[in-house]
Amino acid sequence: MNVLVIGSGGREHALSWAISKSSLLTKLYCAPGNGGMEKVADCVTLDSSDHDAVIAFCRAHDIDFVVVGPEGPLVEGLVDALDNADIANFGPSKAAAQLEGSKGYVKDLCKENNIPTAAYGRFSDAAAAKAYVETQGAPIVVKADGLAAGKGVIMATTVGEATQAIDEIFGGKFGAAGAEVVIEETMIGEEASFFVLSDGTHTLPLATAQDHKRVGDGDVGPNTGGMGAYSPAPVMTDALCAQVMREIVEPTAAAMQARGAPFKGVFYAGLMITEQGPKLIEYNVRFGDPECQVLMARLESDILPALMACHSGTLDKIDLKWHDDPALTVVMAAKGYPEAYEKNTLIENVDGLDTEEVQIFHAGTRRDGEDVRAIGGRVLNITARGQTVAQAQTRAYDAVDSIHWPDGFCRRDIGWRAIERENK
Ligand code: AMP
Ligand code: GLY
Repeated sequence: MNVLVIGSGGREHALSWAISKSSLLTKLYCAPGNGGMEKVADCVTLDSSDHDAVIAFCRAHDIDFVVVGPEGPLVEGLVDALDNADIANFGPSKAAAQLEGSKGYVKDLCKENNIPTAAYGRFSDAAAAKAYVETQGAPIVVKADGLAAGKGVIMATTVGEATQAIDEIFGGKFGAAGAEVVIEETMIGEEASFFVLSDGTHTLPLATAQDHKRVGDGDVGPNTGGMGAYSPAPVMTDALCAQVMREIVEPTAAAMQARGAPFKGVFYAGLMITEQGPKLIEYNVRFGDPECQVLMARLESDILPALMACHSGTLDKIDLKWHDDPALTVVMAAKGYPEAYEKNTLIENVDGLDTEEVQIFHAGTRRDGEDVRAIGGRVLNITARGQTVAQAQTRAYDAVDSIHWPDGFCRRDIGWRAIERENK
């Protein structure tokens, strides 16, 4: 069969790499793809927000299945358009993508279904939001309701900071995403991400991961899309995973179905493991980036039947095998990221590093003849498996050190929390 992957990040390279190994695959296309995906697929220029153009491409190239990687096209309803055109696909509808598209939507869903999460209030005007902050006190978390590229969350340590955040959000700092504000109690604990496939009726747990959101070693500096990740998350024992399925994931899938927005695709729960047990921080309606890279590095089974089962409603027939070995990925980013950075810098010695245990997934790269050029903020994902997280980390940094890219940088401590646990 012919498959089209929508997206151009490290997540989509990892997905394409996994799909390229499928026994069901005839031909793989990526739109728009990147300098790494060219090795496993035909990269084509397509504007994913032009649904008619995507459908026309699928018809012209006999595409049997479309995999939508990023949240943007999901929230914009690409899957609905494909469904209407009778083109099989992987990803939630626009209505189901509200699970990521609106924080208030998720909080209400949790409240109605007794899903453990932080206490909260939803506000559409600044005065009411500020009054709520006054009664709750600080620390407190202020969030823009909509998609804000991971930047719409302000952890306020004082009432003054919270008030300022409320003014900024309603003042338009995050555009339409800030038409509403959600204010939450601050939860304390260790964070983990829990990935699940869903076909609307059945759910299948995939794996857990932890990422590193801050730009600097020791988890300092501004938030980013993620500077590295590993899987599994050691904090997630089998008992905790079962509890998360029972108390958070299954009630969510059932609630989405009851709301007439059955969730098809992958979603992951951002969890806080508190003293009272696991609580939901937020949902994402797609694979995490870079978490997807470590999941794909650990997946032994053919991924394509599992993705297709999410569409056909047959996920209960799927059983996935995973490497027991952990995987770890280090993000190499352009110097300056997450602020301004230079583009078109040359990356050398990046080809030929892949082995059984090491994969180099590209994100913001393009090929220019023989040259590989950096064209984005997050640029490469150096991914490795090992018998321990420490071994995976050593393998990943060995590969990092053989890449020549003077204009790039990475954190040097990816996996520190898991390795500290291994050393105990
Ligand atoms: P979100 O985009 O909602 O996942 O928030 C981004 C990050 O902010 C999370 O990964 C947490 O580190 C932090 N965060 C969000 N909400 C809370 C909360 N209620 N309590 C503590 N930390 C939070
Ligand atoms: N790494 C976090 C995300 O994909 O949103």
